[in-house]
Amino acid sequence: MRRKYVVGNWKMNLVLSEATALVEGLKDGLSKDLTVDVGVCPPFVLLAPLSKVVAGSPIELGAQNCYFEPKGAFTGEISPQMLKDVGCSTVIIGHSERRHVFGETNPLLKKKIQAALAAGLKVIYCVGEKLDEREAGRTEAVLHEQLHEVLGADISLAQVTIAYEPVWAIGTGKTATGQQAQDAHAYIRREIEKLYNSQTAQEVRIQYGGSVNAANAQELMSQPDVDGALVGGASLKVNDFLGIIKGAMAATGA
Ligand code: PGA
Repeated sequence: MRRKYVVGNWKMNLVLSEATALVEGLKDGLSKDLTVDVGVCPPFVLLAPLSKVVAGSPIELGAQNCYFEPKGAFTGEISPQMLKDVGCSTVIIGHSERRHVFGETNPLLKKKIQAALAAGLKVIYCVGEKLDEREAGRTEAVLHEQLHEVLGADISLAQVTIAYEPVWAIGTGKTATGQQAQDAHAYIRREIEKLYNSQTAQEVRIQYGGSVNAANAQELMSQPDVDGALVGGASLKVNDFLGIIKGAMAATGA
């Protein structure tokens, strides 16, 4: 049984006082009998102070990106080792904004995943098609490329979660239907089976991301291959994010 995994991707939002209040609110509001895994991914500069705020709570701390080198003359970059050092356990790699706003490519993302895993971080690896690609019937072809050019025998999936985030659903209020999400997730799981084996495909968690909110969370996460959510906008408000976590718990029957 794959445990549901709900992670907030705060993107470039919140200052320290707002971030602290949000995490305190989550800590207060989280069920004592949490049956899902929960994490938040604040901007880099908030990680060190927030690691003290999440301490002792079930909230995992993650980053939104990292570089693949451990240290050196890479102005403006942050290494996986630095993330570990400030108490991060997880890092998002290949978010669509990294791919499409900052031009990150599959070969670069592969190096980042390998470096993050080697440093002892867990990875959330994002894939997903753009609107024109979906309309041209290329959804599976795009996912195929993003999976096959990055994953494979040289990357263990034991500490990797995949996030399916259709770019047309991110920040647009246009959520994929439960069926659209399920179809893409089932395809990803079949490709993981080809790249690895059936046990790995059954064990790997695949989150859905793209305009997830408290109203649609349960329906999305009730799909058999949807193992959680990567949440942007709705992770910035305590009650919205708690509502999504409740939806995840309801989807597991808790
Ligand atoms: P959204 O973002 O929930 O605001 O659509 C999701 C994401 O980009 O991870």
